[in-house]
Amino acid sequence: MSNPNAEFQGELTHVGGEQTVIAEYGKRFQIDTFIETGTYHGNTTAAMKAHFSEVYSIELGQDLFKECQGRFAGDPQVHLYQGNSSDVLRELLPTLAGKRLLFWLDAHYSYGDTVCLPSGIHTPIIQELDAIFTLSPNSVVLIDDARCFIGKDGYPTLPQLREYVVQKMPHWVFEVKGDVVRIHERLIC
Ligand SMILES: C[S@@+](CC[C@H](N)C(=O)[O-])C[C@H]1O[C@@H](n2cnc3c(N)ncnc32)[C@H](O)[C@@H]1O
Repeated sequence: MSNPNAEFQGELTHVGGEQTVIAEYGKRFQIDTFIETGTYHGNTTAAMKAHFSEVYSIELGQDLFKECQGRFAGDPQVHLYQGNSSDVLRELLPTLAGKRLLFWLDAHYSYGDTVCLPSGIHTPIIQELDAIFTLSPNSVVLIDDARCFIGKDGYPTLPQLREYVVQKMPHWVFEVKGDVVRIHERLIC
């Protein structure tokens, strides 16, 4: 079978450095509010406190959520939510209306102690993007694990994801570099 992501293959070999990428985009777009989907044990949440004044993170798994509630107890910079990411985004984003936000979309089933939606679909990515494009259309979106977008377990392929983005946000940039999909308005320098 031919590789649906062949045109992106050169980029997908460079995995790593994700926290640096997030910090760079925050700085480049002058964004001070970070929203992560998929908290897991809270390592990216913790790391982003140094780069953003407000850090939001959403986790489906009850146990993982409770663990992170303990980890960040009493920390006014960190805001944790439990639930399906796209449902939480639809409630949360209207409360942040008008703010430019940096999204790190990393909610997905990854086996081990991670959690899957009852539907068995591994990724809520399209529902998340739908909520963001509707409710926070001036934001910057980074999606982790570009290499997983191969058309299985609910993942679109990268060309299918690009087609969806271009249809919704025709003037935005869609780039894949180093395992991170980057979606945002064109920066005029
Ligand atoms: C790869 S881990 C996230 C890693 C974390 N962002 C980090 O950098 O340390 C993916 C997480 O997404 C969670 N998850 C899966 N489906 C989800 C959904 N629909 N909504 C929110 N979280 C979800 C999993 O339970 C898991 O904890």
